[in-house]
Amino acid sequence: MLVLGLETSCDETGVALYDSERGLLADALFSQIDLHRVYGGVVPELASRDHVKRMLPLIRQVLAEAHCTPADIDALAYTAGPGLVGALLVGASCAQALALAWDIPALGVHHMEGHLLAPMLEEQPPAFPFVALLVSGGHTQLVRVDGIGQYQLLGESLDDAAGEAFDKTAKLMGLQYPGGPEIARLAQQGTPGRFKFPRPMTDRPGLEFSFSGLKTFTLNTWQACQAAGDNSEQTRCDIALAFQQAVVDTLTIKCRRALKQTGLNSLVIAGGVSANQALRQSLEHMLGEFKGQVFYARPAFCTDNGAMIAYAGCQRLLAGQHDDLAIKVQARWPMEQLPAL
Ligand code: KG4
Ligand code: ZN
Repeated sequence: MLVLGLETSCDETGVALYDSERGLLADALFSQIDLHRVYGGVVPELASRDHVKRMLPLIRQVLAEAHCTPADIDALAYTAGPGLVGALLVGASCAQALALAWDIPALGVHHMEGHLLAPMLEEQPPAFPFVALLVSGGHTQLVRVDGIGQYQLLGESLDDAAGEAFDKTAKLMGLQYPGGPEIARLAQQGTPGRFKFPRPMTDRPGLEFSFSGLKTFTLNTWQACQAAGDNSEQTRCDIALAFQQAVVDTLTIKCRRALKQTGLNSLVIAGGVSANQALRQSLEHMLGEFKGQVFYARPAFCTDNGAMIAYAGCQRLLAGQHDDLAIKVQARWPMEQLPAL
């Protein structure tokens, strides 16, 4: 089955062609980062309008790269939520219009299920069951995964998502959007041990997270340094490192707990923050205790992309699922509501 996948949940237009027999045939992405950077974050209306502009040229591009024509496509998969409603509607309308014109089925895909399954596109995919740490700009969740659509939420963030914490912290230190890669870059030059930040909610049992206090702690530290006349680049790097280590340690502690609780020794990390090298290293080291393995996607498939939507959609379409012709998207959509395959 050849599936055309469309991703438009936020500030990236992603398009890909995935074939159930031959694997990923083509994938293209237009990132709107430059468009939103001047505003310090995503402006939803600008995002929607830009998706409209990019979608059809990207579809033409992947078809040409894969040497395919519309007649070869068996089904469409698009992100139906969670995400920005206007942005989601662009992908949904486009997918439904093409499905009608080409007389093929379309299926709305859950964005976080797309992230969760992205490591399946790699050479050594994880096998079920496993624990998944979903860390994106909008979500921080620990999930027990027994199969596609068999999701048990073990814990999640009570406030900011991990990626959101990176973005907000970066912004208040005067760094560019998106903050995750910026903080990671500065942290490489940071002095270990100069600042010690708290590891929120690790001193009590449970698998919940809270990252908003860490942001305030960072702001206070940065302001105290500035008040003392120190606003050097080195200090910024030292704070970036302390912040990143606090997030990485916190995520590692909770993942260790989730593995102990479930008795599993296989961990999947997915979503934009799973591109973070320090996080990957820390989790790989921790999995040594369990004689287990960490799985993640290549960096381009950790952040938003069309390939993960084409892949996740293909699995469900193969099982016979598809939408009716209504154009329906959901800004909020708990992943546990998805049907099991
Ligand atoms: O999964 P994603 O592309 O979009 C959502 O579904 O939200 O994740 C974007 C998030 C942003 O918050 C960004 O700052 C963060 O992922 N991110 C990173 C890194 N690369 C992207 N955070 C930490 N380190 C990175 N290398
Ligand atoms: Zn995402």
